[in-house]
Amino acid sequence: MTAPGVDRFTSIEREVAKLKKINAALMSRVERSTDQQLNAFSLFETAIALDQQVRDRTQQLKQVLQSLERTNGHLLEAKQQAEAASSLKSSVLIAVTHDLLQPLNAARLTLSALAEMVASPRGMEFTEQIDRSLATLEDLLRTLLDISKLDAGVLKPEFRPVAISALFEPLQQEFLSVAAKRHLRLRIRPSCERVISDPLMLRRILQNLLANALRYTQRGGVLMGCRHRGDNIRIEVHDTGPGIPETQREAIFKEFQRGETSAGDNAGLGLGLSIVQRFGNALGHEIRLQSRLGKGSRFSVTIPRTNEPDEILAAPERAELEYEYGGMEGAKILLIENDLSSAEGMANLLEKWGCDVAVTISKADALDRIRALDGVPDAIVADLHLDNGETGLEAVDLICGEIKTEIPAIIVTADYSTKAAHDVSALGYELLKKPIKPAEMRALLSFLLS
Ligand SMILES: Nc1ncnc2c1ncn2[C@@H]1O[C@H](COP(=O)(O)OP(=O)(O)OP(=O)(O)O)[C@@H](O)[C@H]1O
Ligand SMILES: [Mg+2]
Repeated sequence: MTAPGVDRFTSIEREVAKLKKINAALMSRVERSTDQQLNAFSLFETAIALDQQVRDRTQQLKQVLQSLERTNGHLLEAKQQAEAASSLKSSVLIAVTHDLLQPLNAARLTLSALAEMVASPRGMEFTEQIDRSLATLEDLLRTLLDISKLDAGVLKPEFRPVAISALFEPLQQEFLSVAAKRHLRLRIRPSCERVISDPLMLRRILQNLLANALRYTQRGGVLMGCRHRGDNIRIEVHDTGPGIPETQREAIFKEFQRGETSAGDNAGLGLGLSIVQRFGNALGHEIRLQSRLGKGSRFSVTIPRTNEPDEILAAPERAELEYEYGGMEGAKILLIENDLSSAEGMANLLEKWGCDVAVTISKADALDRIRALDGVPDAIVADLHLDNGETGLEAVDLICGEIKTEIPAIIVTADYSTKAAHDVSALGYELLKKPIKPAEMRALLSFLLS
């Protein structure tokens, strides 16, 4: 090959190599660019798939939420039904026990009148026996009434400063004879402390604890006293009774649960400790039990201490003491009572005390009969709730207005609400709660007439 031919060949070779390089560079650029486009596409695809998944999950969540809402709705409905049934049960129980207390009250009043006519010792023994049975029945009904009222939220504690001595002294009087009959020693250690509680509810707690301690202890005795526990006072009731097995210590606080210790004793129903527990819960006072088999038990209630002066206990408690009262012979009493058996029982009793009684059943009847009494009545005894929405308070007001004289009045009622007590005392009248205790009635009436 000639020299110009060789040069030409070399230059073409260089040209080819250069073109190959350019081609390779272009190819790689094209590949890179294709790759990037594919990546974007797959990302796009993934995003679409994820979005679909999010939609599916959201839909599923929505369905779960809806079904939860439906379940909640059903639960709420079931809860409302259960509450309605329970409050219906409580209201029925309140109404029934309340209505049973009325004829019982009448029977006790009539019996009390009968007792004053009975001369033979055997007859007196019988009337006492009947009265004891009726008193037990009354206790039971009151307990049921308290339980249903607590359940229905009607019974609410009224807290105030209470002197321990004002609680302990009447309990000592009440239980000394019980202890003596069972040949047990009862010691109630005096205390000058004061606590914040509802005195009537706290008293029921202690009454039940003392009654149990004295009922289940065969030998030895019962001691009630106080201990300081920080800002609290712990009232303890110790006994030397049979003790309570560990396995029963929770169950005995439930309604109608009686323990082994009571197998031979038919008197109780197993309600005492459930009242103790319920009242303790309502008052916020802790109830505790410690016991050793064969040695005895210790029940306690823990109550906040206070230095505030205590208020005088409610009038019925003071009046419970039985005294001989007189000054009622010939007194003219206007009785306004819509319940006929109660009216009859009360009238018998008042007549036995020598009163001259006019029995009426309503405001209009009372107005008519007031003229039948020879002159102004010396006192009025009226039931708080009469028929047709009338109240004893209105009746007394009407009579006093008619004869233009202030007449002392006793309002009797089975309505234990604070409102009733407030309404009566606001008008300056006396309140007696049913079932009426004859001694209490006699004491109050004798006081009013004097
Ligand atoms: N101090 C105690 N010692 C031994 N056992 C007791 C004592 N207090 C209570 N128990 C046991 O606890 C049970 C439940 O007492 P709770 O006061 O509730 O009912 P109850 O005394 O049987 O009847 P109720 O109080 O209604 O008249 C009793 O039956 C008794 O077995
Ligand atoms: Mg009991």
